[in-house]
Amino acid sequence: MWPDRRLLELFKTEFPIVLAPMAGVVDAELAIAAAQGGALGSLPCAMLSVEKARAQFNIIRQHVSAPVNMNFFCHRAVDADAGREAGWKRRLAPYYKELGIDPAAPINAANRAPFDAAMCELVEELKPEVVSFHFGLPDRTLLKRVKAAGCIVISSATIVKEAIWLEENGADAIIAQGAEAGGHRGMFLTEDIAGQPGIFALVPQVVDAVKVPVIAAGAIADGRGIAAAFALGAAGVQIGTAYLRCPESKVIAPARAALAQALDDSTVITNVLTGRPARGVANRVMREVGPISPDAPGFPHAATGLAPLKAAAEKLGKVDFTNLWAGQAVRLGREMPAAELTRVLAGAALARMSQMAG
Ligand SMILES: Cc1cc2nc3c(=O)[nH]c(=O)nc-3n(C[C@H](O)[C@H](O)[C@H](O)COP(=O)(O)O)c2cc1C
Repeated sequence: MWPDRRLLELFKTEFPIVLAPMAGVVDAELAIAAAQGGALGSLPCAMLSVEKARAQFNIIRQHVSAPVNMNFFCHRAVDADAGREAGWKRRLAPYYKELGIDPAAPINAANRAPFDAAMCELVEELKPEVVSFHFGLPDRTLLKRVKAAGCIVISSATIVKEAIWLEENGADAIIAQGAEAGGHRGMFLTEDIAGQPGIFALVPQVVDAVKVPVIAAGAIADGRGIAAAFALGAAGVQIGTAYLRCPESKVIAPARAALAQALDDSTVITNVLTGRPARGVANRVMREVGPISPDAPGFPHAATGLAPLKAAAEKLGKVDFTNLWAGQAVRLGREMPAAELTRVLAGAALARMSQMAG
């Protein structure tokens, strides 16, 4: 049995596993499948309009009666800086030329927006059981409204100081995101990428510092990883990368191929794709422009200049400009339906723990 049941009791799921919300590659289909397998299904809303988020949420509700997590970014929005945008376009000019794209053409690409009053109204309308945030928490007024709607609030910490801050500011559980994790660092009280602790160092120190349940995240991809998280004091896990090769994910074919070929040392942290540090499988733009570039405009504006390149390269079957967000355990990912994968992960974790106990 699970050695810590606090998260199971909080979320009322069969397993203490959260499908990581992964903007751009997770939609209702994967959330439904993970929920059917016994995990907490998450719907990433950072790149969705209010209408799309409502439609996706309603699809999940039509298919499963299990609890649902809606996930939002809550970075401080900053306007694009024309000077930096122009500099970025100059840096990317050779790629525009190579792909035959007019660099002066207007760009109309969906980007990542922070949680705002309109999304808060949607949360009040839909009342998901769980709302998770990345990059801290929204301002007090909005957070109060989310809590008043009855939602359990969770968010990621990358250092102990962030975990304490989240608990003091109302988080009901904390995701301890280790440096190994795929995607954006959830960091909000620090910008020090080099100092981000790995999951083995972070989880027990966060567990010691807060009273709320801790959810371990980062390179957990099989029963061994889940058992290790519990050994470190976590009450559950949030798993992203391991679900990327499930048939229900929206990862495009050439990106799937890149994930399937990735090794333990294939991922790096980059800021060139969005302006904020995130871990992904290294691709051409990360290698040639980054992985960290001072020229990249602030989050999320770096993505705008890359959008036409990404679209054109993808048409040619290339992922030279595509974010291939993935954690360090990408190689452990399996091509398996998400409900089955969830049950396999939970079963393997329980077997591992009872083997270790005996
Ligand atoms: C493709 C991808 C997209 C992600 N997008 C989000 C997101 O939209 N919101 C969020 O809170 N976390 C996001 N994350 C981070 C995850 O919540 C989590 O920290 C991470 O997946 C855990 O590490 P793992 O991928 O090694 O399992 C993303 C991660 C990946 C791999």
